[in-house]
Amino acid sequence: MSHKSLLVLLLITIAIATESPALQQLRHKLESNEYNSQLVDMLELSVAGGQIDRVFELLQKMIDDLTGQINSANLEHASRMAAFQLSIEQLEANLAQLQNEVQTTNRKIGEITQSISTLTSTSVSIKKQLETINQREEQIRNNRAKEIQSVETKQTASQKTLETLEEIHNRLVKAVLSNQGSFLEETEKQEIINQVKQELGLTHPLALLLDLSAKFDELTAKKAIELIEQIIASIKESQQFREQNQTAAEQNFNSLINEVSILREKLGQDNQKTSSTLKNKQNDLKIAQRRNKQLSLNQENTQQLIETTRVQKDLYDSNFRSNASKREGQLNSLKTAFQILRDNEQALKK
Ligand SMILES: *[C@@H]1O[C@H](CO)[C@@H](O)[C@H](O)[C@H]1NC(C)=O
Ligand SMILES: *[C@@H]1O[C@H](CO)[C@@H](O)[C@H](O)[C@H]1NC(C)=O
Repeated sequence: MSHKSLLVLLLITIAIATESPALQQLRHKLESNEYNSQLVDMLELSVAGGQIDRVFELLQKMIDDLTGQINSANLEHASRMAAFQLSIEQLEANLAQLQNEVQTTNRKIGEITQSISTLTSTSVSIKKQLETINQREEQIRNNRAKEIQSVETKQTASQKTLETLEEIHNRLVKAVLSNQGSFLEETEKQEIINQVKQELGLTHPLALLLDLSAKFDELTAKKAIELIEQIIASIKESQQFREQNQTAAEQNFNSLINEVSILREKLGQDNQKTSSTLKNKQNDLKIAQRRNKQLSLNQENTQQLIETTRVQKDLYDSNFRSNASKREGQLNSLKTAFQILRDNEQALKK
């Protein structure tokens, strides 16, 4: 119904027609709004035109059209609301899935962090053991060097003693063989005693023997020769013993160094393995953290999308309700008009 043409018709009719009681009743009964006043004006024109049957036909058609519109709008509303609901449910399912994944990733991050902590202390402990083993090797080598030094000093000293004793021995033997009567000169005797004291010590039995003998005679010399030979044999024996002992000590040293090397190699392998596992775990941690960041972002976006969809749904629903209530009002007006005109049909037809 065009507003402009209605107005033109209205102006013409107002001049020629006075309002019927039925239309007056209708105007009072209907709520005052643009639609209703246009409706009554239109009916007034049509009634004035005298085509009452056409008016009923028209009203019925309007009622049917509007009812059709209401039905199809209701269907459309139901389907769109279902579509909104489905979107929201899908988004909520996505959100729940994301929350699950975040939890799983967080658990994984916790596990990786725990392993990293364990591996780090293992690595520290291995490095400390390596340090200890290196110190131990240094100590073994130092000890060995000191031992070699000390043995060399002893061997040199005993060699010097040996040489002196051999020289004294030779002198005494020569004296015994060549001279039967007057024995060694006092000066030579004193020289020998001094040498013995120097090499063997002041209280050595040989020193005492020579020192205390009232007469340095052949018998004393023979006793001294015998004693010197015993001492020489004993020195040679202990030299030999020291050498043998050094062979054993060297073997012992080599086996200690070997043990240390094996241990260090094993620790080195452990260290490498631990370091590489640690590196992998740190990499895993980075990946898991990056994944969690992405998941959190997706979670936020999904949450926001749910909110937006809800707002759109509510807005659509409230627009629909407002349209629906307008349509219901119009339908009621049409039905009321139809009923009142029907009630006054006879009067209107006169
Ligand atoms: C033999 O070697 C051992 C250990 O290396 C040492 O304790 C001992 O004094 C040595 N003996 C001699 C006679 O050098
Ligand atoms: C409500 O009516 C207006 C005007 O006819 C229309 O533009 C809008 O799409 C309608 N909204 C709904 C939800 O039916």
